[in-house]
Amino acid sequence: MNANPLAASAWRRTLSAALRSSADAAGYYLLRCLAHRRERATEEQLDAAAGRISEPDVAHGVGKAHKLIARFKGRIPADPDLSYLDMGCGGGDLTIALGQLGLRKVTGVDFLARNIERARALAVKHGLSGRIEFVCADLRAWEPPRRYDVLLSFDAMEHIAEPKAFLERMKSFITPSGTALLAFGPLFHSPFGDHMWGFFRVQIPWRGLLFPENAVLRARREFFRPTDPATRYSEIAGGLNLMRYCEFLAMVEETGWEFEWLAVNTFLERYPLLQRISDALMRISVVQDYFAHNVYCVLRLRTPKR
Ligand SMILES: C[S@@+](CC[C@H](N)C(=O)[O-])C[C@H]1O[C@@H](n2cnc3c(N)ncnc32)[C@H](O)[C@@H]1O
Repeated sequence: MNANPLAASAWRRTLSAALRSSADAAGYYLLRCLAHRRERATEEQLDAAAGRISEPDVAHGVGKAHKLIARFKGRIPADPDLSYLDMGCGGGDLTIALGQLGLRKVTGVDFLARNIERARALAVKHGLSGRIEFVCADLRAWEPPRRYDVLLSFDAMEHIAEPKAFLERMKSFITPSGTALLAFGPLFHSPFGDHMWGFFRVQIPWRGLLFPENAVLRARREFFRPTDPATRYSEIAGGLNLMRYCEFLAMVEETGWEFEWLAVNTFLERYPLLQRISDALMRISVVQDYFAHNVYCVLRLRTPKR
């Protein structure tokens, strides 16, 4: 009997589509049992909330700045004469905090208009608008008016689409002797990498890997962000780029940067045994991506070898 290869491949496609849609449905029904609606907000409500600035928000920025300074162990230059660029500054809490801590030339860039509106309002509230400026732009296309001595990016690198292109672009933001300090995470492949912990009553580690993207995004639309039509992680407002830790290491190398300092899972510092286990896992290439929660690093431009 001659089997018809075209019919067989059509069958395989139909079967795999049916399996995929059953997995999506099963995943979605499980996730909806674990979700809550307390954080549900439309884009309009998020825009309105961005305009409301409270004292705790301001204190939060200063607290976060102190935490970063401690985690970078004195590596963040603190010189009022240097120029600083905060890449992916969000609502500006941290950028403003840097101004409050004495820095005089700070620029924050973010592509979400509501974030920049909030950041500018915060700067005015603190009388810092002369020293701190905010630009609403996509960092992957932004043409900076000058080069900066210190590039900073906090909790943004895992969100920015095409991170390699961004690392490439960063080279046009920095002075030749400048320093770039990046702190980011959780990375998508780590236990809480889907950034949706605030939306669920029960947390499932590696949820973003265990559940189909369609199921997670469907639950997200129904329970949390009803007016964000994202059907892929990459389409979420503010983005989620799925970059692996090993990919980040390779991208740094390939784009002409070099690590002056690199630390992973700094939150374990207070638990020396766990930190040692984490450091050991980071040396095993098949598991490192699944346990690299956050990354702190200082980068410099590699000088060409003569
Ligand atoms: C999690 S927030 C971090 C905000 C702030 N750095 C902080 O630590 O509070 C990440 C920010 O990166 C911004 N972002 C993502 N991709 C970007 C891009 N291509 N250009 C500019 N901003 C971007 C998002 O809009 C978001 O505000």
